[in-house]
Amino acid sequence: MRKIRTNLLNPVAPTQTEYLENHLIAWDDDGIQSVRPYDPTLDKDAQDRTDLLCLPGNIDLHTHLSQHRIRGIYEPSLLDWLQTHVYPEEALFADPAYAEKLSADFFQALFAAGTTTGVIYTAPFRQACELAFSRAKLGGARAFIGMTLMDANSPENLMQSTDQAFRDSVELHEAHHGSSPLLEFIFTPRFALSCSPKLMSRLGRFVQENDAWLQTHLSENPREVSEVLKLFNAESYTQVYEDFGLLTPKSILAHAIHLSEREMELLAERRCKIAHCPDSNFFLKSGEMDWRSLEAKGVQIGLGSDVAAGSSLDMFYHAKMANYRQSAFSLGPELLFHTLTLGNARLLGLDARIGSLEAGKEADLCFRKLPNREIEPQNLLSALCFCSEEFPVVETVVASKTVFCTLEGQLHQSSWN
Ligand code: GUN
Repeated sequence: MRKIRTNLLNPVAPTQTEYLENHLIAWDDDGIQSVRPYDPTLDKDAQDRTDLLCLPGNIDLHTHLSQHRIRGIYEPSLLDWLQTHVYPEEALFADPAYAEKLSADFFQALFAAGTTTGVIYTAPFRQACELAFSRAKLGGARAFIGMTLMDANSPENLMQSTDQAFRDSVELHEAHHGSSPLLEFIFTPRFALSCSPKLMSRLGRFVQENDAWLQTHLSENPREVSEVLKLFNAESYTQVYEDFGLLTPKSILAHAIHLSEREMELLAERRCKIAHCPDSNFFLKSGEMDWRSLEAKGVQIGLGSDVAAGSSLDMFYHAKMANYRQSAFSLGPELLFHTLTLGNARLLGLDARIGSLEAGKEADLCFRKLPNREIEPQNLLSALCFCSEEFPVVETVVASKTVFCTLEGQLHQSSWN
């Protein structure tokens, strides 16, 4: 049993966060056992870490493992960026040694950023996806991992045959679905431009019949949208996915920027999840997602880093960007914190297990150092959202196991060693 005397921030609702100063959090292999005020008589054996802040681990709803090395490489337009930087990088993942090294680097970086759950794209090679699963398992990550699918309009060295792309995905799903409480396979057609109608309709049928997860990109960039409409002779990008059966409550659609009212309504009707990626949207000059209209239509919105078009795995940085990049209204710290913890957990159907600090939940935790400057308790969350670099991550725990730690002396060995 680990017993830590510390301070906690706990997301309760989109408009409410509780700050629990000088509390005890205790967990063992079965999860969080208690969260309560520190009691000097009962808790003599607790480790005193009142210099830290304990948070639920962050959840990243959209990120590309296969782009981890190319963060911050400038190219201000989606389709050019994919051709010039992303596709050549992803081609390197045909080499298993490279795929293995980058997978290890990625999960280590994810934990160092305080993220305990990632929804992840890997390169369009089955072995690269398998290696990501093995590294996730070895490191102790909680993750949804998919093999990116590209069977049309793509460079030769990335292109899969339709049959192979579908068969590999189904076999990966069979191998990983239900095989671990922490890992899940997610079907990953890259976007409409890189997938044939035949592949998308087979995927649509499969995910509907098997209640499977699916992720893709939707309406990110105006040029992308107009090419999709031309290629599919369609009235809207969302309708293309609808026609192939890809819109389900287990579909995570990244970006969703250039949408008509009808498209938003359709996404709400199908109970799809949107992965909002504000940093990426501005890096690639894709545009500003209309959070307010989507929310008003009842669309469920979460937050993703979209590394590498997003420059960082730190989800608090993306919370700040989500605020900065709504030009007409402000997203407050409570909503931002809730979105990247309990809100994202809810979108993934995991809110009964993770996302907040409660006895009975699995222990997915992040401990951060409190800044040296004095901050009133009521301002701590705001400071964390807008100055997260002042709160360095010192320990990350997934399902009760320490997966990252910078503290000396007293903490458990990470399984990475
Ligand atoms: N659309 C298709 N592929 C990608 C990708 O890798 N990143 C982003 N941001 N958009 C995409």
